[in-house]
Amino acid sequence: MPLFSNRYFLPAMLAALLFSAACHKKPAPMPAPTDDATLQSAASFPVGAAISVDLLRNNVGYSSLVSAQFSSITTENVLKFDAVEPAENQFNFTDGDYMVTFAVQRHKRLHAHNLIWHQALPNWVINFSGDSLAWENLFKTHIETEAAHYKGEVASWDVVNEAIRDDDGTLRNQDVNPGDGSIWRRHLGADYIARAFQYAHEADPNALLFYNDYGQEWNGQKLNAIIALVSSLKNRGIPIDGIGMQMHIDINADNNNMLAALQKLIATGLKIHISELDIAVNPGNDPNFVFTDPLNAAQSAKFQYVAHIYNTVPTAQQYGITTWNVTDGDSWIPWFYNRKDYPLPFDANYHKKQAFYGFLTGLKN
Ligand code: G3I
Repeated sequence: MPLFSNRYFLPAMLAALLFSAACHKKPAPMPAPTDDATLQSAASFPVGAAISVDLLRNNVGYSSLVSAQFSSITTENVLKFDAVEPAENQFNFTDGDYMVTFAVQRHKRLHAHNLIWHQALPNWVINFSGDSLAWENLFKTHIETEAAHYKGEVASWDVVNEAIRDDDGTLRNQDVNPGDGSIWRRHLGADYIARAFQYAHEADPNALLFYNDYGQEWNGQKLNAIIALVSSLKNRGIPIDGIGMQMHIDINADNNNMLAALQKLIATGLKIHISELDIAVNPGNDPNFVFTDPLNAAQSAKFQYVAHIYNTVPTAQQYGITTWNVTDGDSWIPWFYNRKDYPLPFDANYHKKQAFYGFLTGLKN
């Protein structure tokens, strides 16, 4: 047999080439430092994240991270009206049920978001024509069917989401502010909020029921309106257990304002859920934005501060802190504002950011 027959020569050459390429390749970057610290173990209250069902289904890295880091999960989109009742009286619980199974298997608390909102509505609701009785029936059927389906499976609901206007603290009303008004207020009258809580409670008496809204940390008028609303519901004996303070903030958020708002909310005696926390780093929409070390540090300090002040909430009122999704790659902010931004404690490669460590420190004290 010739020494260099094709049969032996080609594989040998290939091996030599691969060996040589391996030797000349740049050294692989050091893996990111890993440690065992988790958000859920740092806090004395639940720490959660809003979860995307597609990522949960299709991405093991995502589901493992959620499982390791968080003790609570919120449904980001799958329980909204358009997802659950896309056509009249046709309910789709497939994605929500998937989340329930995940939560049960991983021993996570499940917070359901949301029953009534002026957004995420299917066209059949937007175009619905009927008298007030027909509207009430649509509204009641939706709430009761959805809350009853998840009875005993979710710990809590955002029953009504974002009902109050930013500009004057009155209820959104489609007649007054068509672009951002509420179809519910228009067709059902101002007391639709109370009835939403009653219907939800009748369908699932053990679920904790929340009013959820944004801007409470920067808009004093809106904060006061929310406090007046929930206090009045409470005084009337309407079954409301808590307030969701969304906290879509940025690195310039004023610490004193956040603390003052939290203290006012504590005074209601209701549970307080920081329900949608994210901290934007490019609020000016800079198209050439670079996420520098100082900005990383500022974001980390802000996460730490938010968690730190939440520790001042009396234990019985601490429903927990939830971030709005998990990693920078999953956040609604870059998509919604069409800009670069990095608002969450994990980067798009699922690595812990400085923000993670700031958050962790704040959760501890
Ligand atoms: O998945 C589809 C994709 O297939 C399609 O190509 C694309 C085209 O627009 O849409 C994708 O769905 C989008 C979905 O987010 C998934 O990313 C929807 O259009 C979009 O409307 C939806 O936005 C959600 C938004 O609420 C409206 O429901 C965001 O994910 C969600 O983070 C955001 O969450 C809200 C809270 O519910 C209430 N508080 C504010 C918060 C942020 O806006």
